[in-house]
Amino acid sequence: MSDITIIGGITADIEGNPYGQLARGESNPGKISIAYGGVGRNITENLARLGADVAFVSAAGNDFVGRAAVQELKQLGVNIEKVSLLDDENTAMYLSILNIVGDMELALCNMDVLERISIDFIHDAMKVLKASKIVGIDANLTEEVQDFITRKLHDAGIPVFLDPVSAPKAERAKKMIGRFHTIKPNRGEAEILSGLSILNEEQLRGAGRWFSQQGVKRIFITLGSGGVYYKEGEREGIIRPQAVHLVSATGAGDAFSAAIMDAHVKQMDIEETARYGMAAAAVAMEAKTAVNPKMCLESIDEKLRKGIFNLSLLNNNVLIE
Ligand SMILES: Nc1ncnc2c1ncn2[C@@H]1O[C@H](COP(=O)(O)OP(=O)(O)OP(=O)(O)O)[C@@H](O)[C@H]1O
Ligand SMILES: [Mg+2]
Repeated sequence: MSDITIIGGITADIEGNPYGQLARGESNPGKISIAYGGVGRNITENLARLGADVAFVSAAGNDFVGRAAVQELKQLGVNIEKVSLLDDENTAMYLSILNIVGDMELALCNMDVLERISIDFIHDAMKVLKASKIVGIDANLTEEVQDFITRKLHDAGIPVFLDPVSAPKAERAKKMIGRFHTIKPNRGEAEILSGLSILNEEQLRGAGRWFSQQGVKRIFITLGSGGVYYKEGEREGIIRPQAVHLVSATGAGDAFSAAIMDAHVKQMDIEETARYGMAAAAVAMEAKTAVNPKMCLESIDEKLRKGIFNLSLLNNNVLIE
């Protein structure tokens, strides 16, 4: 049994970058890269690198990608007993072909295996979930499964954390939003979850109030380069990032999510948690990959020591990004 259990997707992201103009119906020379992804998997890897006691619940194909992804997590110390490698499915994959200027020309998305994380599948892992200090889910899970998990764990008094993954996927978590203890949407995801428009600080506070009224205890709305808005009870604020060394912003949100779950286990207060999350996001942004292999407590400490943040007092009504 682990302190933190994550339930979510494992994906392989395959990206093709042509060396010249793309020609349809032909074989184009170019660079092809493959990387692991999946918000749940990324959060789990970040947590393992932070030294957290973490278990992962997921499904992938019994193919070389799925086996390797699980092996990597195992080597990092993740409890992978509840990850199923299925013979009759392939690992979830996202295949994209970009054009010469780096815009996506065509993509194919094969997420069928994630549907196999069914209610029965979760039922089978319930002992592990109920023994955790916090359970995190990503919105790759179906609405029915999210409904089942949040109902069972809410009744059992186990805090559940949500990363909504993307604005379209955030729809799936809307109905049961009040059963989450902590949520970390970005601004677009928060708009979908609340049905409110969030264009300035006043509307941001309005959304924070709305989530609180639904029953969410801790709210973190990440704002990309604008930092993060946080709220717990009467305590709220915005922390702005300063002097971030940006290599790639992909995966910054996943690192933020991982860190705030680690902070929950370490019983940090809301402001400390928000700073810790931002420091982890700053570390994530220093690598090209979604998860920075250099993610560790020491790198986060270094960011915190450098004081890369600015606490804003939420009294000016300016645009967020
Ligand atoms: N361009 C940036 N400059 C400075 N900080 C950034 C930038 N982009 C992201 N961050 C930091 O990372 C945190 C999370 O980023 P963001 O709001 O983009 O999450 P997200 O949309 O969930 O990202 P992801 O692509 O990982 O899902 C922000 O709160 C901020 O601290
Ligand atoms: Mg995100």
